[in-house]
Amino acid sequence: MKKNLSIQWGHDSSLCLATNKEILGFIELERISRIKSYSFKNIWKYDQGNKEFEEIVFKFLDNFQCNINDIDKITLTRTARGDEIPNPIKKLFKNQKYFFFDHHEAHAAVGYYSSPFNKSIIMTMDGGGNDGGLGFWIGEDNKVKKIKTEGDGSIGQTWTALRRYWSKTKLGPISTEGTLMGASAKGKVIPELKELFLQTMENGEKVWSSFPKVIESLFKKRFFIRQPKYFINEQTYFDFCASLQSSFNLIFEKNLRIAQKYMLKYDTDAIVLSGGSIYNCVAVGNYIPKYFKKYYIPYSIDDGGLAIGCNLLLNHKINNEPKNDEYLHNLNSPYQGFDYKENQILNSIKSYKKIKFKNINEIEVAKLISEGKIIGIFNGRSESGKRALGNRSIVADPRNSNMKNILNIKIKNRQTYRPFAPTILEEFTSEYFENNITSPFMNFSVQVKKDKRNLIPAACHIDNSSRVQTLSRKFNPSFYKLIEEFYKITNVPVLINTSFNESEPIVENINDAIKTFLETDIDYLYVFEKYLILKI
Ligand SMILES: [Fe+2]
Repeated sequence: MKKNLSIQWGHDSSLCLATNKEILGFIELERISRIKSYSFKNIWKYDQGNKEFEEIVFKFLDNFQCNINDIDKITLTRTARGDEIPNPIKKLFKNQKYFFFDHHEAHAAVGYYSSPFNKSIIMTMDGGGNDGGLGFWIGEDNKVKKIKTEGDGSIGQTWTALRRYWSKTKLGPISTEGTLMGASAKGKVIPELKELFLQTMENGEKVWSSFPKVIESLFKKRFFIRQPKYFINEQTYFDFCASLQSSFNLIFEKNLRIAQKYMLKYDTDAIVLSGGSIYNCVAVGNYIPKYFKKYYIPYSIDDGGLAIGCNLLLNHKINNEPKNDEYLHNLNSPYQGFDYKENQILNSIKSYKKIKFKNINEIEVAKLISEGKIIGIFNGRSESGKRALGNRSIVADPRNSNMKNILNIKIKNRQTYRPFAPTILEEFTSEYFENNITSPFMNFSVQVKKDKRNLIPAACHIDNSSRVQTLSRKFNPSFYKLIEEFYKITNVPVLINTSFNESEPIVENINDAIKTFLETDIDYLYVFEKYLILKI
């Protein structure tokens, strides 16, 4: 059967393979290139093909036993250049038919088509695309229709500009906008800054041109000239981040009220959210369960996921494929990465002289975790999106109040103010966390209940919040079983679950996993649900 390839060549580049009926596989290219947020930089500069681009595409197609001639249609997101095709793509795919979709339409499609709703309002928010930075859509009967899009992406761009700003100070590098969000819990809101950020997010344009200068002069005026040392004081940074988060909360809440009006107008009680700004789990966790009873946020809500969105639009908008349970079953799983065979994995493991392996089961692995060991999990296809969801995760005991430090010293080397997220067996969620959320993709930050904070101290942020993954058996049976066994030993149905990486992107193949295992102090690797890898 002929296949369709969707190419996100902008930042967070990704590839998605599909038939006319279903998504077959998806991967962010940072996982292959091993460069964080990898993109096909300067793609417009090439007047010919590009070797790097071709190698990555071939590697991707190979993994799905597919070649160029199997590809029938190419889908791309529309950019400021309209429907122009970059040369490296045009040269590689000469005989294929091309389809273009708008940026926010693709974000909206990722949300609506993977949601359980036939009818919902979809709100998209990000750092801007060809069709604005904020969008409202109605999804109904298999189609996504635009209500309105507006803005220039200043909401997301403000965060990016400020991340870059702080990256250049002694407190940098700041790797993601989420780091600023994590730091906000330790700060106090400075009204002057909050107002400035609010204005910048609301009426952009200035973000890239004058915004850093505005910040510089504000700092000089307020902190630098009067108190030079305060400028690089960590508390200033925390206050700055708290002010940023506070202004984002206001804008987010304002936009949710607009969404509510559309829900009334279009007669639906369900909302779907998508776009990079929706990774703000603090605002999402605070407001979504408060405002709505029926809500859904997918995985891959950032620009990486646009490749999925374009293929979904091809299948549903152009091919009129129905949005049914069969389709959802495939799409709802975030485990869309490369598929590795057991013998491939074993051959790789055997080729390393510094490791050995033995057979093991979940009960024994759970016991090791309960004894304080840190385990890297490599299992099945990799999860898509920014969060580790159990197939490329590092797990540890949340009961140990020192575990955050241990993880930082042994493996992650992150800023000490950043929290570590947990995964909980979903039936225990309301026992441990406020707001009664369902969060399979780790999109919500909520408060840990008072009487549980001392049980899982390593999973509590400074403000007692936690960006939790709620896990059902069906979602990831192997990961569920591991936590279930940990619960039987400890009476705590929670594990710390952080992404399997050090400073690189999340590991993709077994060699990436073994490399990180050998370069850090991870105690063991747990592979394919039955092998334990040990350092010699
Ligand atoms: Fe976007």
